[in-house]
Amino acid sequence: IEHVLVHYRWVIVCLFLLPASFLFDIYMTLRAWLIFKLNSAPQQHDARVKNVQEQVRNFKLGGSKMCTSRPGWATVSIRLGKYKKNMKKININLMDILEVDTERKVVRLEPLVTMGQVTSLLLPLGWTLPIVPELDDLTVGGLIMGTGIETSSHKYGLMQHVCESYELVLPDGSLTKCSKCTFAIIVFSISRTENPDLFYSVPWSYGTLGFLVAAEIRIVPSKPFVRIKYQPAHSAGELVDIFTKESKKTKENDFVEALAYSDEEGVVMTGNFCDIYEAGKLNRIGRWYKPWFFKHVETKLKSNESSVEYIPLRDYYHRHTRSIFWELQDIIPFGNNPLFRLLVGWLMPPKISLLKLTQGETVKRLYEEHHVVQDIMVPMKNLTKCLQVFDQEIKLYPLWLCPFYLPKDPGMLAPPSEEMYVDVGAYGEPRAPDFNNVKTIRRIEKATKDFNGYQMLYADSYMTREEFREMFDHTLYDKVRKSLPMCEEAMPEIYDKVH
Ligand SMILES: Cc1cc2nc3c(=O)[nH]c(=O)nc-3n(C[C@H](O)[C@H](O)[C@H](O)COP(=O)(O)OP(=O)(O)OC[C@H]3O[C@@H](n4cnc5c(N)ncnc54)[C@H](O)[C@@H]3O)c2cc1C
Ligand SMILES: *[C@@H]1O[C@H](CO)[C@@H](O)[C@H](O)[C@H]1NC(C)=O
Ligand SMILES: *[C@@H]1O[C@H](CO)[C@@H](O)[C@H](O)[C@H]1NC(C)=O
Repeated sequence: IEHVLVHYRWVIVCLFLLPASFLFDIYMTLRAWLIFKLNSAPQQHDARVKNVQEQVRNFKLGGSKMCTSRPGWATVSIRLGKYKKNMKKININLMDILEVDTERKVVRLEPLVTMGQVTSLLLPLGWTLPIVPELDDLTVGGLIMGTGIETSSHKYGLMQHVCESYELVLPDGSLTKCSKCTFAIIVFSISRTENPDLFYSVPWSYGTLGFLVAAEIRIVPSKPFVRIKYQPAHSAGELVDIFTKESKKTKENDFVEALAYSDEEGVVMTGNFCDIYEAGKLNRIGRWYKPWFFKHVETKLKSNESSVEYIPLRDYYHRHTRSIFWELQDIIPFGNNPLFRLLVGWLMPPKISLLKLTQGETVKRLYEEHHVVQDIMVPMKNLTKCLQVFDQEIKLYPLWLCPFYLPKDPGMLAPPSEEMYVDVGAYGEPRAPDFNNVKTIRRIEKATKDFNGYQMLYADSYMTREEFREMFDHTLYDKVRKSLPMCEEAMPEIYDKVH
């Protein structure tokens, strides 16, 4: 069975997981549509929050701590948290969009709302989240507690930087709302200045301060298409130069990303919202029979000229979804074959959660030993050096490069001053001859720390507790944990969930 699982995984994926994923999606789409149409979610919200409060109040101190009950296999991240086994699991059954307020320009969302749900509701209304992270299944809660980055992040920062407020059930069972403290808000309404310390320490706390039950996130107007310009580069220097220059144009470019295909080749992509497209240049990349996006972009390397294309907005937001960035090429090697795409492309991608649920011990071990899924966030000025480190240590391409603006807010990410950062994402099988998952990742973590960079929390981390505390600023986090009733006793520390 193990042999079959490892060598013929695509059989299982194609025969069982694809149809199962399809049915699951239909169910979720129907559910989201029905609930919003009937407008029943907001009334049920309060009752469901009370239920969370009750579960938390029933928790008895002593030994174990609390976490959410969402099973490890259901999340997008690769890790199957071992901590889930021994902790008291709080069931957070909150997966609805509560309110779209186009006057205040905010949406109020429950934590299990997915990015796919948000785009299918907001885009037809002419609105969007400023940041729509790539995969359909990423959740609001996971993105606020984790990262929340996309190609508009050079403008807006991370998900936490476009949030207006969080509603949390604290470890003692009380319900609280927190928001950032600004002058205008202090003048007009005292209640909205509540607890900026908590507001700034929730992001990256990974569910260790309390349970998120709703968040208000800003929305911005959207347009139906994205005009995208591909600029190929044929040396590392050229790639970093173009990419850095475009990332700094925060007014001109709505979207910026780059894919590095080797240590000296890559394509920089810049995009802008637009209402209309030039005849003959529309590319509906989201259609089932279209090539995987990273393969399509690779063809741009053949020329030295930049080129322009128009992509429907939702297709753009989810451009890497059908191939799960480039993860699917290892699982379904012929997945990008035109015939396969034509016949079953519409079933792609399989649900990550179902892939994880059915991977078995052997595949899991092989993944741990021969597979890297890491996102490393470093200052843009250190990108050249960082790419050299990645090339030397893992030699894995394509690499995803996504710029983001990091303000000097208090909290876990406290850069010396506001700065443009870049997320370097490596997903796949490393080709470096002496790759060793623990030793190599430890060296990369060390380099990241030297750059004043950060490792995303969803990825495997091998740092010691001290190293982890050097990478992430725990000053405010520790203070808030001390001040919240029962927090230290009832909630684990971030490190204990991610190391
Ligand atoms: C293939 C892949 C692609 C990715 N692409 C992107 C990307 O494009 N952009 C990006 O920003 N990130 C990306 N990520 C990383 C992603 O940000 C993290 O995995 C993130 O944590 C979201 O995952 P999730 O929605 O599955 O959350 P989960 O894994 O379910 O949650 C993450 C953490 O938040 C906590 N949490 C969640 N909900 C609550 C709640 N209601 N109350 C308290 N705690 C809560 C959980 O306890 C958990 O510790 C990617 C990851 C992978 C594996
Ligand atoms: C593109 O230009 C670079 C340097 O100017 C050159 O080395 C490379 O061969 C060119 N590639 C193509 C496909 O023309
Ligand atoms: C990062 O870049 C800055 C500016 O170029 C440089 O001073 C610093 O030494 C670099 N950091 C590392 C670890 O290379």
